[in-house]
Amino acid sequence: MDATVRPGNFPEGFLWGAATSAYQIEGSPLADGAGASIWQRFCRTPGLVANGDTGEMACDHYRRYREDVALMRDLGLNAYRFSIAWGRVLPAGRGEVNAAGLDFYERLVDELLRAGIEPLVTLYHWDLPAALDEQGGWLNPDIAHWFADYAATVCRRLDGRVKKWVTINEPWVISDGGYLIGALAPGHRSRVEAPIVTHNLLRAHGAAVQAYRAEGRHEIGLVVNLEPKYPASTGAADLAATARADAYMNRQYLDPALLGEYPSELPEIFGDAWPEWPSADFKLIRQPLDFIGVNYYTRSVVRADESAWPVRASAVRQSGAIYTETHWEVFPQGLVDTLQWVRQRYGDVPIYITENGAAFADPATAVDGRLDDPLRVEYLRAHLSALRESIAQGVDVRGYCVWSLLDNFEWALGYAKRFGIVHVDYATQRRTPKASADYYRRVIASRGTVL
Ligand code: BGC
Repeated sequence: MDATVRPGNFPEGFLWGAATSAYQIEGSPLADGAGASIWQRFCRTPGLVANGDTGEMACDHYRRYREDVALMRDLGLNAYRFSIAWGRVLPAGRGEVNAAGLDFYERLVDELLRAGIEPLVTLYHWDLPAALDEQGGWLNPDIAHWFADYAATVCRRLDGRVKKWVTINEPWVISDGGYLIGALAPGHRSRVEAPIVTHNLLRAHGAAVQAYRAEGRHEIGLVVNLEPKYPASTGAADLAATARADAYMNRQYLDPALLGEYPSELPEIFGDAWPEWPSADFKLIRQPLDFIGVNYYTRSVVRADESAWPVRASAVRQSGAIYTETHWEVFPQGLVDTLQWVRQRYGDVPIYITENGAAFADPATAVDGRLDDPLRVEYLRAHLSALRESIAQGVDVRGYCVWSLLDNFEWALGYAKRFGIVHVDYATQRRTPKASADYYRRVIASRGTVL
């Protein structure tokens, strides 16, 4: 264990952050020459997003970023994870650079640095330029090079000031939500497309890391959402279903990226839709990474279910447990188990918790400038305690970002689900820190000794 880590404490230099993503908070998606994204199009298709909500205004962060950085400074954050909209930088996804788009992110980074906040930049958080989607998007193998060129363009401008980079946020959600289930943009529903998208996401990740090594001097990693799978019984069918669910969600990306091969369960899950991949691809995919970003929200308890396409596994609701507004069980021990598992399977790679948080039914309005969200306070307390335990066990966790800084556009669920530690009144764009923000501020001020 590192000498600076005493059991029960967070290490020196630990990053205390909050996370957001471009389409979820920025608004003004076409401002200053930006190109449309698949999310902008998805939102305009009736019936796909709850309440017909769109990201046209979102939290208006594109115009209010200075106010938002001041808010972060008041909370005592020393890190902020945000994403860059590919289409602001390259309106057609490739080719001509839109200087105004890069300028925006440069201003944001400078504002953060002035406030003593370290930027963690995600290059892709689901908002593919629509022009690339028209050429097949994640289904087109050329996307690996399109993405690497985009990564190089951004790094060239910002690597002098940004020291932590993420290639792709949650590739599993992109292929599962966007191409298999169809609940997220671009809304395809295909067992054949999902594995192709997975493979191209991984190739794009590898190509971007290579491009970064040529251009950049700092750290780059991949962010995955991990959800530990526990069998509902010790029966063989449930154990096999749990292994399939785990391979599909937790190992589908980390195994190729860190070990150079897909989990053996994937061909079984996808059947004849699972292609034979050229072995040379795994050289591209398996690049040395400086860290893994883990997004942790919940666990699932799994039972075999032949009707649950295509993994043949479904989750069993736990009686007596607390569930969030997005129907996720609150299960902090899952974070401890997940981090142990990552360490055992992939070795001592540095880890950042790049997202952790919950949507609860908050009071609709602030009273006397206060908004009480006791369930979120308790969620944060329990997960930060779990994290402290993992660190005491020797897991190399270097930072934590709460999801999310602000209430924001929760994709197909629109604005109804609120994840923020800061409340946003969408009619006025007024920000009100919730009790959870005050709690997090106190935790940070004590460097995690008071939880
Ligand atoms: C995503 C966020 C999302 C959050 C809550 C993560 O899967 O990275 O964009 O808002 O979970 O659903």
